[in-house]
Amino acid sequence: MSSNSFGKLFTVTTFGESHGPAIGCVIDGCPPGLAIDESEFRTDLDRRATGKSRHTSQRREADDVEILSGVYEGKTTGTPIALLIRNTDQRSKDYGDIASTFRPGHADYTYWQKYGIRDPRGGGRSSARETTMRVAAAVIAKKWLAERYGVRVRGYLAQLGEIAPEGFDWEAVEQNPFFWPHAAQVPQLEKAMDALRKSGDSVGARVNVVADGVPPGWGEPIYGKLDGDLASALMSINAVKGVEIGDGFAAVAQHGSQHRDEMSADGFASNHAGGILGGISTGQAVIASMALKPTSSILIPGHSVNLAGEPVEVVTKGRHDPCVGIRATPIAEAMMALVLIDHALRHRAQCGDVGEVKPRLP
Ligand SMILES: Cc1cc2nc3c(=O)[nH]c(=O)nc-3n(C[C@H](O)[C@H](O)[C@H](O)COP(=O)(O)O)c2cc1C
Repeated sequence: MSSNSFGKLFTVTTFGESHGPAIGCVIDGCPPGLAIDESEFRTDLDRRATGKSRHTSQRREADDVEILSGVYEGKTTGTPIALLIRNTDQRSKDYGDIASTFRPGHADYTYWQKYGIRDPRGGGRSSARETTMRVAAAVIAKKWLAERYGVRVRGYLAQLGEIAPEGFDWEAVEQNPFFWPHAAQVPQLEKAMDALRKSGDSVGARVNVVADGVPPGWGEPIYGKLDGDLASALMSINAVKGVEIGDGFAAVAQHGSQHRDEMSADGFASNHAGGILGGISTGQAVIASMALKPTSSILIPGHSVNLAGEPVEVVTKGRHDPCVGIRATPIAEAMMALVLIDHALRHRAQCGDVGEVKPRLP
């Protein structure tokens, strides 16, 4: 299995399986001198973790990060940073049936076709457990982006099944287990999730992610476009089936006079572009959105085949998320931050001498 590395100058390579002894990553290219401590990983890893509310998988991982290299006396040294998290809550017997059958909608069948062998425990490498390390690596990326450029990356759940936010407040997002931006709707979400769990089914979701403070100039034409890399990064998250930048697919029905973001000395009048033009950041907020499919591991029986190609009925027990989108918010933030730090470093490498050019819109 190749393609486990991500990024050109800030390169993250992840390893590990859901039910192996540990998962980890190596970050190559982190700027030296950034203060970082093991305790700083706690907040984002807790935000991504399972078992935090009854609406997500009840698997409980401590997710304690060990820094194995690249940090000396609390500061990054510029050498590869190795992070390790030991898996502590494997219950592989929960997943016995997955070894001999293929869950419809999961990656069991394609991994089997590709490699002719697979680690079925908890989905092995196809499990979203792997995304823990992206979140860990992005703790470093977020901190550097914030300190060096004042960039802040935040996400929220923008739709759960049929339910859409009826109000918006960033403050609310971190105060409920759904990352929902309108506190008054949380009881409605809880009710919907309780009913869903009872039915044994699952539901899809939309997650939006926004980066404020990104200066103009990040991103490279033609094959290194910021929006292209963002789309690829978000699409690499498990269960993501669609990505939009700015107005995304709504642009189809718009007119040019409506979609273009007009400019004045006071700045841009709107942000339909999602902060990116020609693959390069405009200096506005970078805005992306992603669609997550409903979890495939469900209690509703479904038709499939076993390893012998015989018909079987699949019912997936075990500890699964009834809506994977709920825990995807910190993962989307992580991928946005990893793309941004990579492009910040790439921009600095090629265009660092260009400096600020006029006019620079506020
Ligand atoms: C945060 C998160 C948690 C997930 N949890 C589960 C889960 O509990 N059960 C499951 O079947 N799929 C889960 N998934 C989705 C699978 O990992 C994914 O559907 C599978 O690997 C197939 O890949 P694809 O859907 O991207 O094609 C989760 C995804 C995310 C982002």
